[in-house]
Parts: sequence; structure tokens; C-alpha cells
Amino acid sequence: MRILSGIQPSGNVHIGNYFGMMRPAVELQEKGETFLFIADYHALTTNPDPGLLRQRTFDLATDFIACGLDPAKTVFFRQSDIRQVTELTWILSCITPVGLLERCHSFKDKISHGISPNHGLFSYPVLMAADILLYGSNLVPVGKDQKQHIEVARDIAIKFNNIYGEILTIPEPLIKEDVAVIPGTDGQKMSKSYGNTIEIFGNTKDIDKKIMGIVTDSKTLEEPKSPETCPVFAIYRLFANQNQIDAMREKYLAGGFGYGHAKKELVAIFNEYFKPFREKRNELSRDRAYIESVLETGAGKASETAKKTMKKVREAVGL
Ligand code: ADP
Ligand code: TRP
Repeated sequence: MRILSGIQPSGNVHIGNYFGMMRPAVELQEKGETFLFIADYHALTTNPDPGLLRQRTFDLATDFIACGLDPAKTVFFRQSDIRQVTELTWILSCITPVGLLERCHSFKDKISHGISPNHGLFSYPVLMAADILLYGSNLVPVGKDQKQHIEVARDIAIKFNNIYGEILTIPEPLIKEDVAVIPGTDGQKMSKSYGNTIEIFGNTKDIDKKIMGIVTDSKTLEEPKSPETCPVFAIYRLFANQNQIDAMREKYLAGGFGYGHAKKELVAIFNEYFKPFREKRNELSRDRAYIESVLETGAGKASETAKKTMKKVREAVGL
């Protein structure tokens, strides 16, 4: 069974990325053959700065290894090191109905936020389908927001197989429901594009400040509070064990416990959780050659599978 996922190098990783995608991917490396790549071609749809793109790609690779990715278990690579993915994108584009892409929420969202779309942004899901199908992936762990893109990949694969024969593997999404949407500091979905993120790495004082700044309602210290609607509680429970969660819930319901207190407890448990990852990252960041060698080895392995798929696909479509 092949498990595959990708992540865009679009800025510092935050806890939405970590719980929605990085941790599930790290857990899955014990369960099957895992492929994980840094989607730098996808990042080009919104990032025109070459130096920044290169730096972010490298940083993200470092972050992932610090967060538990084991290069001996996971094939870890840069999307753009495997050029066949762009060839497959073209071939898949030629059977993808425009309407299928026009219906994608993420595309519609970006337009509604005033972004004037380039063609890459529009065909983003086709490149994503190519990522998945090139490596014969069975299972694709992603956050809820990517579910529709996996459905598009499935639709494209089914259509391809109907036309050309059973060549592509039909993938399934894997979405962890309990951590499906991590709220940001303003209570909305955490996302770099909303400026409401809590990062894992970087200046810890700034990160602590962001946690202390999570928006809550205006109940006084004495009043009982509702854990289920509070983003501080929603984030706390990601780090805590069941006993700690129950204890925190009691304190919310009892009153006499302020949001400031809850946030302080969150800061403490957050920093304790990420301490070993931060230490590992400090070490890794001094060894650029090691990170590069991991990505090169990964590309070598990914390319073997890619070549096999493309041989079949090219033959099937008449190239
Ligand atoms: P962002 O919205 O910050 O730009 P990305 O779109 O780059 O994040 O997401 C990278 C990965 O992290 C995807 O698999 C996505 O589903 C997951 N992810 C991002 N934000 C969240 C969140 N708030 N909750 C759960 N998963 C998330
Ligand atoms: N679009 C995904 C995101 O922004 C990243 C991605 C690119 C991906 N290709 C993929 C995820 C293939 C899973 C499989 O999160």
C-alpha cells in the first residue's frame, strides 16, 4: 500500500499544518510505504520570488525531519526533481473538463478574495492529480480543505482508465476527523492566508505572545465558560491527554478561571510538546548538506516509480 502526501513551501509551518498533515504523515510511515514531497511547483502559482521559494523549500524539509519524518522509512523529495509530473499533468489536462476545475472551492475562494488567477492556479488540481497518480498512491492523508482536490484526482483517474484501460490507481483520501480543522488565533480556520497562525519554529517569545492573544469572548474571570466554543480549549486538547482535557473542562465550567489562566497553561503544554522538535531543528539547520542528500536520495527512489508509470501512460495515450 502506498501512502502519499505533499505540502507547499509557502511559509513557516503552523500547528494547523502539523496536526492536519505533518503528524498524520509521520504516524503513517509506520503503516505502509510513504512518499512525501515538497510541492514547489504548486508554490509557483502564488510565489514569484526565486530566492524565497528555494529557502522555504529547504526550511520545510528541515521542519519535517525535525518533526519526526524518518528518511529511512519515508521517500522524501522535492516535487520539481521529478519532471515527469509535468508531463503527466499535460496528459491529464487533455481529459479534464474545464467545469470540474471551475467548481473547485479553493479556486473560487481565491478569486473571491480578489486574486486575479493565473492558469497555473486554475489547473492546480490537475498537477495535484498527477502528483498522486504518478506514484500509484492508494491513500492520501490531507486536511479537510484538500478533500475536493482528491475527489478531482479520483475523477480524472477513473476517466483516464475508462478511456485508456486500467492503468492508474484510484486514490482514497485519509482525513483525520478529530483534527480536521484547527482554529487560528481568531477562531477561524488557521491559515497563513488569514494571518491567524501559531508557528512551531521561530522566536518562541513571539509564538507565546500569539497564544496569549487568541481571541475569546468577554466573560469575566468569575463566570463559567464554555469549553466547546473556545479556541484556546480546542487547541489545548490537541496537546493534552484525556485527564488533562477533563481537568481543563472542569475549570472552564466551574468559573473563577480566566482565559488568561487557560492561555498560560496552553503556552506551557505547547512549549513542552515542541521542545524536542525545536532542539532537533537547531541541530539540523547546521547541516545543509544532510538535508540536500535526503532530498536527492528521495528523488532517486521516486523517479523509479515515476518512470514506470509514465512508460505505461505514454504507450496508452499513443505517444
Ligand atoms: P495554509 O492554509 O496555512 O496556507 P496549506 O494550505 O499550505 O496551509 O496547508 C498545508 C497542509 O496543512 C494541508 O494538508 C492542509 O490541509 C493542512 N492544514 C492547513 N491548515 C489547517 C488547519 N487549520 N487545520 C487542519 N489542517 C490544516
Ligand atoms: N495542495 C496541497 C496543499 O496545499 C499540497 C499538495 C500538492 C498535495 N500535491 C499534493 C497534497 C498531492 C496531497 C497529494 O495542502
